[in-house]
Amino acid sequence: MKSDKHNISSADSVDNVNDQDNYQNYKSDRIQKFQQYGIDPSKLPRHVAIIMDGNGRWAKKRLMNRVVGHERGSETVRSIVTSCRELEIDVLTLYAFSTENWSRPKAEVTALMGLLKKFIISERETLHKQGIRLQITGQKARLPLDVRQEIDITMSHTAKNKKMCLNLALSYGSREEIVNAVRKIALKVKKGKLSSDKITEEIITEHLYTSKLPDPDMIIRTSGEMRLSNFLLWQSAYAELFFTPTLWPDFKEQEFVEMVKEYQNRDRRFGKVVCSSNDGSQH
Ligand code: FPP
Repeated sequence: MKSDKHNISSADSVDNVNDQDNYQNYKSDRIQKFQQYGIDPSKLPRHVAIIMDGNGRWAKKRLMNRVVGHERGSETVRSIVTSCRELEIDVLTLYAFSTENWSRPKAEVTALMGLLKKFIISERETLHKQGIRLQITGQKARLPLDVRQEIDITMSHTAKNKKMCLNLALSYGSREEIVNAVRKIALKVKKGKLSSDKITEEIITEHLYTSKLPDPDMIIRTSGEMRLSNFLLWQSAYAELFFTPTLWPDFKEQEFVEMVKEYQNRDRRFGKVVCSSNDGSQH
């Protein structure tokens, strides 16, 4: 997925700005916006992926049913989507339901599917107005029919939107995704459509659910757990990891902005050595 919107002669400027005055206003508003956040618009992460954890503990602390925690978690989903759009993030992936989550009590699975359906319906117009495209990553066919139908409507309604992609990981597991990709590749080899010595990292990437998305730059996990739990294992090879004790229903824009600032201060070398001075010294 290509984007030039971090450049000032961006999609925004082409789509919305008709004359020079408006364009200058747009430019200064944008600079002011990022100044207020304290964020450098030239070093934004393109893809932010979040493991939304801690809904159950949030509810337990208040002696409430776990489902109430998921309901409050849905509110955080709404606000973080808006924050990411405002911060001009290209892709936001949210781990909303893992393949392992199917083994939770039936009532909790039903409640989560209900919340998901409610979100997909209630946010349809808001996503569209914000120029956000909905995408699903995972075993969509395993989802209940009514949920799938609403997803399909929202996906086609928002399909042409270019400002941001909201990628919901649903019935998703990274190992399952890789097995699925290997099977597809093996079939091509079997049919003589692909030679085994032509299997590269790019070919594997092309067969993942996320084939059209850039790799995540930031992976955030809330609730104090420090593991990836089968989330985007291939894609996160060079992602910057962020862990916070905050439970997902309490995760707010301010903390997210602080993480983006920290991201901008990290030295991303992608396994390479950086030579910065004339004498070629490395650090
Ligand atoms: C993890 O918390 C969270 C989930 C398994 C589901 C996440 C779902 C939502 C945030 C709401 C619905 C989604 C959308 C997109 C509207 P947990 O239950 O594992 O918490 P715990 O570890 O404290 O028990």
